[in-house]
Amino acid sequence: MKPDTAPTAPVKVWDPFVRLFHWSLVSCVLLNQFVLEEGEAPHEWAGYLASALVLARVVWGFIGSRHARFADFFPTPARLGRHFSALRQGQHPQYAGHNPLGALMMLALMALVLALGLTGWMQTTDAYFGEEWLQELHEWLANGLLLAAGLHAAAAIVMGRIERVNLVRAMITGVKRP
Ligand code: HEM
Ligand code: HEM
Repeated sequence: MKPDTAPTAPVKVWDPFVRLFHWSLVSCVLLNQFVLEEGEAPHEWAGYLASALVLARVVWGFIGSRHARFADFFPTPARLGRHFSALRQGQHPQYAGHNPLGALMMLALMALVLALGLTGWMQTTDAYFGEEWLQELHEWLANGLLLAAGLHAAAAIVMGRIERVNLVRAMITGVKRP
């Protein structure tokens, strides 16, 4: 499959579900990192909500609108290979939906959220209550998520500048404007 070309006119790319998913997920993660008391009930519920959002997004990846579907952006070795060889030639291939490298990061972010939900839940069970290694794993996952999300947000801003399409605004309005 050929890479998509960038829009030359305003084009609707992100459906309302994708946008609501994204900013709700960001809110849950930031609340758990910086606002809510760690390990208290609101922290647990925000963490479960984040995990539920990711699971719903996985379902949407099969039934959602065109650019929301995994088939549109899943970072297969072939897509990544084409993307890297274009970068090596000094080109910045543009995509109407997600680019394969960004998609790899998005999958990693979603996996980290699910792993946090799982390790958080395990800490509430009799079998693992008070296990230090699990608390440490949860903390490492949270730090990893923070780092990855920082890189992801910075990349979205920088790539948007390079491609002259405001990607962050598109994640709010749903529309990519060249
Ligand atoms: C987006 C999901 C989540 C994020 C980003 C997150 C983040 C964090 C962070 C940053 C800490 C403090 C770690 C430290 O410095 O010791 C923490 C602690 C904790 N979290 Fe989460 N968490 C999430 C989900 C959950 C869930 C779903 C649960 C339980 C149902 C949970 C239970 C706990 C508990 C019990 C602690 C205290 C651990 C300790 O005593 O060190 N978390 N979490
Ligand atoms: C905890 C923080 C974050 C997480 C977990 C996260 C996660 C994600 C995920 C899973 C996607 C894929 C969206 C989908 O197809 O459903 C995505 C896309 C995106 N995110 Fe984030 N995000 C975070 C923070 C941010 C921030 C702060 C910004 C703004 C600077 C941002 C800007 C974007 C943009 C622009 C896209 C679409 C990229 C494209 O055009 O291909 N994200 N993010």
